[in-house]
Amino acid sequence: MFADKLLVNFSQIFSPIDRGRPLRGKEMSEALIIENGYIAIKDGKILKVGSGSPEETLQGPLTEIIDYTGKLASPGLIDCHTHLVYGGSREGEFAKKLNGVSYLDILKEGGGILSTVKATRSASFEGLYQKSAQLLDKMLIHGVTTVEAKSGYGLDWQTEERQLQVAQQLNNDHPIELVSTFMAAHAIPEAYKSNPDAFIQLIIDEMLPRVKAENLAEFCDIFCETGVFTAAQSRKLLTAAQELGFKLRIHADEIDSIGGVDVAADLQALSAEHLMAATDDGIRKMSEAHVIGNILPGTTFSLMADTYAPVKKMLEAGMAITLSTDSNPGSCPTANIQFMMQLGCFKMKLTPIQVFNAVTINAAYSVARGESIGSFDTGKQADIAIFDAPNVDYPMYFFATNLVMDVYKNGNQIVK
Ligand code: NIG
Ligand code: FE
Repeated sequence: MFADKLLVNFSQIFSPIDRGRPLRGKEMSEALIIENGYIAIKDGKILKVGSGSPEETLQGPLTEIIDYTGKLASPGLIDCHTHLVYGGSREGEFAKKLNGVSYLDILKEGGGILSTVKATRSASFEGLYQKSAQLLDKMLIHGVTTVEAKSGYGLDWQTEERQLQVAQQLNNDHPIELVSTFMAAHAIPEAYKSNPDAFIQLIIDEMLPRVKAENLAEFCDIFCETGVFTAAQSRKLLTAAQELGFKLRIHADEIDSIGGVDVAADLQALSAEHLMAATDDGIRKMSEAHVIGNILPGTTFSLMADTYAPVKKMLEAGMAITLSTDSNPGSCPTANIQFMMQLGCFKMKLTPIQVFNAVTINAAYSVARGESIGSFDTGKQADIAIFDAPNVDYPMYFFATNLVMDVYKNGNQIVK
């Protein structure tokens, strides 16, 4: 069969091994590293990946051949935790953070997430759409081809719905593929300050069924944290969501370990996210329940903390790990997943192969897209990030610089 496109002469192709599930523990150190490689694309899908010159049987009269001498190819990067759609920005909190005021104290004073809620409630669909599209453009040039996007800056139905509709529209219009998560339980709205249980009940009774009926999200998430939602509230909401057919993720053990991880394990959430304060017991439970640990080192960095998640322990316990930006206006304003990957190496001593597996095949499974993206297996979408780098080590070593030069989504070159 002739290829539509042949990308040739890569000095290295990084291709995760797809085991039909996320890579766990030691498996995360394994990958196919193809020297002097080529990628054949047909109808937007991977036809073949190999070493040396492509066979003549792949080359028809209309096959386009593109030379990538000296470059590295990886499956398109997957940012599996973002708060993509929001109004305003919070650089005003930066000075407070520099003066040592904590994230949870800023939130307690009505700032933080709640200030973004005000800005998001007053933003129009069009305003949110344009702002989110611009953020996606920035992610794209860093090699990202799929993004998980959470709502959670409305905390009321109208705004949560608007955020999810913006993500849905962008999924149609933008080259990046979006996976939507409903996260109205992101903070306690002012009106429910003294009765957060009633807010959880409102989400269960009024919002979840509408999200389902309008098919606006695939996942449900909650911020389980001191001063936000308790483990009992998280369990109640996520159980109701699961009964309606939502897949589950949970913000757990970000600052304090208050039981979110147990909820994740008991309900078999696909992913528990943040985990900076994860305990040995929590790690054991997540490992046994096959909950993916989603690590967000940019948040530790941006909160000016030293508490990077204990990923080595997670890997030793046999857990699967992903890495993502947590892109949001407060605890991690960034569009650069490569910097997260570098923090994985610099701060958590992950190897480049572990890091690339985390943001490709494991991230694909964490957003329930393992069959279609995340590796170069024949028949998967031809989503490709091409680095101006000769091997997987280089983009981790040459840090804080965008080394992605070209990006393909479904076989179409969208960044040149
Ligand atoms: O993942 N942890 C909760 N939510 C976000 C922060 C959002 C914000 O500060 O606006 C997070 O860190
Ligand atoms: Fe988050």
